Amino acid sequence: MNATHTASPARAPGPPGKLLVGNLLDASRRENRLAHFVHVWQTYGDIVRLDLGPLPFFLLTRPDHVHHVLVAHAANYPKGRGYNKLKLFLGDGIFTSEGDLWRRQRRLLQPLFTPQSVGRFESHMRRAIDGLLAEWESAAASGQELDINQEMMKLAMNVISLVMFGFEIGARAREAADAFSAMLRFVSERSVSAIDLPLAIPTAANRRAQAAMDRVNAFMAEIVAERRADPTEHDDLLALLLAVRDPDSGAAMSEEQLRAELLTNFFAGHETTAQALTWMWYLLSLHPGVRAQLEEELARVLGGRAPTLADLPNLTLTRAIIDETLRLYPPVWGYVRQALAADEIDGYHIPAGAMVMVSPFITHRLPTIWPNPEGFDPGRWMSEQGAGRPKHAYFPFGAGPRVCIGNNFALLEMRLMLATAAQRFHLDLQPGFRPVLESVASLRPAGGMPMTLTPRTP
Ligand code: HEM
Repeated sequence: MNATHTASPARAPGPPGKLLVGNLLDASRRENRLAHFVHVWQTYGDIVRLDLGPLPFFLLTRPDHVHHVLVAHAANYPKGRGYNKLKLFLGDGIFTSEGDLWRRQRRLLQPLFTPQSVGRFESHMRRAIDGLLAEWESAAASGQELDINQEMMKLAMNVISLVMFGFEIGARAREAADAFSAMLRFVSERSVSAIDLPLAIPTAANRRAQAAMDRVNAFMAEIVAERRADPTEHDDLLALLLAVRDPDSGAAMSEEQLRAELLTNFFAGHETTAQALTWMWYLLSLHPGVRAQLEEELARVLGGRAPTLADLPNLTLTRAIIDETLRLYPPVWGYVRQALAADEIDGYHIPAGAMVMVSPFITHRLPTIWPNPEGFDPGRWMSEQGAGRPKHAYFPFGAGPRVCIGNNFALLEMRLMLATAAQRFHLDLQPGFRPVLESVASLRPAGGMPMTLTPRTP
């Protein structure tokens, strides 16, 4: 299927696997998955074969590999069995579905996520940001240290629930929010587990996961029922999802599909953004020179007022800081596809059924593409430096048909948060604290991100 097929494609290099479980146990060691992949990339090169259980598994790191799998040959690389666990919880929503069902849902939802459409959510984002910063005033006054990771989770969850349902979930349903987090953790911890016990087997972990799932489903059903009984007009995602009609059949979404899309957007819409914002504050705290330049930009463009949509094109450093954060700490650090037919990439044989993984975290650090790859340098996004960079050298939001539908949403939320909060506070990392990368699901700091807040004098 690849025009560059060679007569007899070679076996990609990689570590020797142990019988049966192959390299699986190494790779699935909690908190260490990413470190393991970085290690094999550094040891074996751009394309690495690992024997993770019964299926061959390939780590692909170059931009042309990313293009091959996610764009040029996307039809041969569906999401596949790597997403089965997530499907148990999210159902066949836009993130996990494939084929015609996915195409239909993507076509229905896409118009809600254009740059213009997400602009209508600005007021919801502002409300959540203002609410959080009001709480920060008192924390700053008392010198109290905050876990910025938790704060960003709270913010992103409140933004997505305001946008979806018109209220802040933290205030109304703490328990449902916690159940949701528990559910996701369960899925991601087991997504590379060697032993795959069906959910119906009543182990303690399965029972807890089932209870969390029941709680979240009940919460979603309650909200939809309330909304259906409410005759007033609403301007949120739930109203849009209820109103959406298939352009061919004119049909509304089924109940099951609605549940899947609500869960999917709630899940996809907050965790990643929260992690990205956390790493952004961390990097700014380590780079006071960049922070000072940011403050200069904010003073020049905004002069102390809150940012609006019209200001965003003028906040170029603000945007570059976000782009650079997503380069160094892409929350979705790696994800998999499964080959339908046998293929050849870079002269190496990819058998039918093999799992392939692309990793923004690794590709964003290729020394042949990124000068000073580990350095935090927002300037690289504001100069000519990027001119010769290959297309998929940078893909924090994915690429091809399954590219993140919420990228405009996330970038808007992050820019509004950064431009508002950096005018009012300095966030400083607890002296001596070094975050440990945890890569169970999204890329997060294992021990949180303890920081102190200092109000900025106007
Ligand atoms: C910094 C924040 C975010 C990052 C880094 C991110 C990253 C990604 C990535 C890498 C994918 C593709 C995964 C794959 O191909 O397997 C994806 C898909 C998706 N994202 Fe995001 N995302 C972010 C924020 C959001 C937000 C705010 C929303 C919704 C409001 C959202 C909704 C989705 C959905 C629905 C998909 C599945 C799209 C499809 O398969 O058609 N994401 N995201």
